[in-house]
This record gives sequence, structure tokens and C-alpha cells, in this order.
Amino acid sequence: MYNTSLVYRCFGDPLTTLQEETATLAPLRAGAIRVKMRFSPVNASDLIPIAGAYSHRITLPAIAGYEGVGVVTETNGSNANLLGTRVLPLRGSGTWQQYVDCPAELAVPVPDDIADTLAARAWINPFAAQMMLELYPVRGKHVLITAAGSDCAGYLAQWARLQGAKSVTGIYRSAIHAQRLAAYGIAPLADSDSAGIKQAAAKAAVVYDAVGGTLAETILQAMPQDGMFISYGLLSEEPFSIRRRLPVVHWFHIRNYLDAMPASAWQQAFVGIWDQLRNSQSSEVTLIDFHQWQQAIAQYHSAGRTVKPLLAF
Ligand SMILES: NC(=O)c1ccc[n+]([C@@H]2O[C@H](COP(=O)([O-])OP(=O)(O)OC[C@H]3O[C@@H](n4cnc5c(N)ncnc54)[C@H](OP(=O)(O)O)[C@@H]3O)[C@@H](O)[C@H]2O)c1
Repeated sequence: MYNTSLVYRCFGDPLTTLQEETATLAPLRAGAIRVKMRFSPVNASDLIPIAGAYSHRITLPAIAGYEGVGVVTETNGSNANLLGTRVLPLRGSGTWQQYVDCPAELAVPVPDDIADTLAARAWINPFAAQMMLELYPVRGKHVLITAAGSDCAGYLAQWARLQGAKSVTGIYRSAIHAQRLAAYGIAPLADSDSAGIKQAAAKAAVVYDAVGGTLAETILQAMPQDGMFISYGLLSEEPFSIRRRLPVVHWFHIRNYLDAMPASAWQQAFVGIWDQLRNSQSSEVTLIDFHQWQQAIAQYHSAGRTVKPLLAF
């Protein structure tokens, strides 16, 4: 049987670096399952490694994509009960391919009431949001969130409110996000409103930042010294300087917690995530045929996007 994958053999612009490659499927390893993919999203987290940000950790050639949903077509071991079920085949081979192999114990079963298009993006952003809120709690605090139009920030903001934040302010780049944020009970703030940003930062006890650059510097300068600044992304592609000893800056990356997490805790975390997703607003999706992946990546980069591009296999 043949499998087509999106492979990168060097680091660079995903649009020119990725290539569709077709090969015969190798036999399934012991303890693994094989999943026929249905949908996989295009996230910042998929594109950044292709560009070379983590080149020291990635062995080339590599298959792109970190998450998605599909149906188990083959098992090797004592997991025949999974055949035909929907799972997230996570932490195995890259997900931007027609068939994904992953360790059976790390495949996450999808509850019947969760649609494929939501399940496909139930990992990176919801998991990161849930974990950051656990590590850096917000109860009774004023919270400030950047790149507020993004999926990850959307979950952070909604769940911060549910967890008892005193207020949640979301800084957005494209005005199209303002109305939706307000509807979620999040105070929208334009990234061009520097006076407003300084004012919001001056009272923020917790900041979750995915932009970096001058926005992060402005916030850090204005924040209370006993605040926490959590940097979890660099969408501006610009680093930021830390000019004061306080507030404390924390660097969050989901991968730093995975190796130490037993499979049982990993599975348990999803019980919470499915529940949270059932009760949250998620962005809409646009489905793009897998073979039109350049179009999906181009769409990912369009400013003011309100839908998440999903590769459809
Ligand atoms: N550290 C971790 O473990 C971890 C885990 C998950 C996600 N993340 C990070 O979370 C961030 C969001 O990911 P996502 O998948 O949720 O994104 P997404 O839903 O695809 O949305 C991307 C958003 O980024 C905004 N954006 C792009 N460039 C920007 C810039 N220069 N300044 C301000 N905003 C910019 C866009 O804003 P407009 O529409 O307004 O133009 C868009 O709302 C990424 O940085 C990702 O790396 C980190």
C-alpha cells in the first residue's frame, strides 16, 4: 500500500521546502497502530520547525505536522479493539501524510460527540492553554493575552475567565477579532493602542504572550514587578529584551513536559480537554484538499483570518 507524505529534507520556507513524496508503507512496528488520516490543521507549531527554529532537535528528512484525526486501520499487538475507531495519532510520525503510525498507548480515542473538525485540533492549542493555566493560575487576577485572535489565545482567554480571572484583556492585530472577543467576555484591545496597552499591562498580574518583539517589551516595561510574564510564542519573529529583573519571565513549551508525563496522565489530560472543548467557542475551519497544501499554508498566513485551515485527506 502507498502513502503520500509532506516531507522536508532541509530547513526553510515551508512553501518551497516541503515536498509531496509517495512510498510503500513499511510494516507496522510492535505496539503501534496505523491511522488513515481524515483532517490535520495548519498551526504555527507545524510551520515553525520546518523553518528551522528547532533544527538541533529534528533529524532530517522529517514529515511535517503535529496533530490531526483519523481512523485506525491496522494494529500490531494487543490493541485490536482500536480497529475502526477514531483517534488522534499523536507523538508518532508527522501527521501531514495519508497514514500515520503512532504508539498505541499515546493514541487518544475521540468521544463520539466530538466532530472530526474539532478533534483534529484538540491537541496543541487546547493542551498548551490548559497546561499554562495550571502552571500559572489566574484566579482573582487581571490577565492580559496577546495575539488574541489565535486559537491558543482564544482558549486561554475563555478558560481564564472560567477559572476566576478578575478580568481578561485580549490584544489583537486585526480588527476583525474585536467583536468576537467582546462576545466571549474578553476586553478587546488593538495592538496599535499603545496607551491602552500600557494601561492594561500596568494592572496585569499574568500575561500570556505569543508575539514577542516590541509588544512584549512594552508590556514588560509597564507590568507590576510581582506579575508573571509567560512567553509561549514569537509570532512577530522578533525576540525581546528583558530590561528589568522583575517581573519574572517564564518560557513555556509543551514539549518540555511530555517526556516526563506517563501515558496514563497524558490520556487523563484529554478527559479534561474534551470537556473544556464541549463548553468553549472554537474557530471555524476551512477544508483544503491535502494535495493543495500550498494553498492551506498561504491561507494560514493571511492576516485577519478567522478560520483555521484543515488539510482534508
Ligand atoms: N509554546 C507552546 O507549547 C505552544 C503551543 C501551542 C501554540 N503556541 C503558539 O501559539 C501561537 C498561536 O498559535 P495558533 O495555532 O493558535 O495560531 P492561529 O490560530 O493560527 O492564529 C494565528 C494568529 O496569529 C496572529 N499573528 C500572526 N502574526 C502576528 C504578529 N506578528 N503579531 C500579532 N499577531 C500575529 C494572527 O493575527 P491576525 O489574524 O490578527 O492577523 C492570528 O490571529 C503561536 O505562536 C504558536 O507557536 C505555542
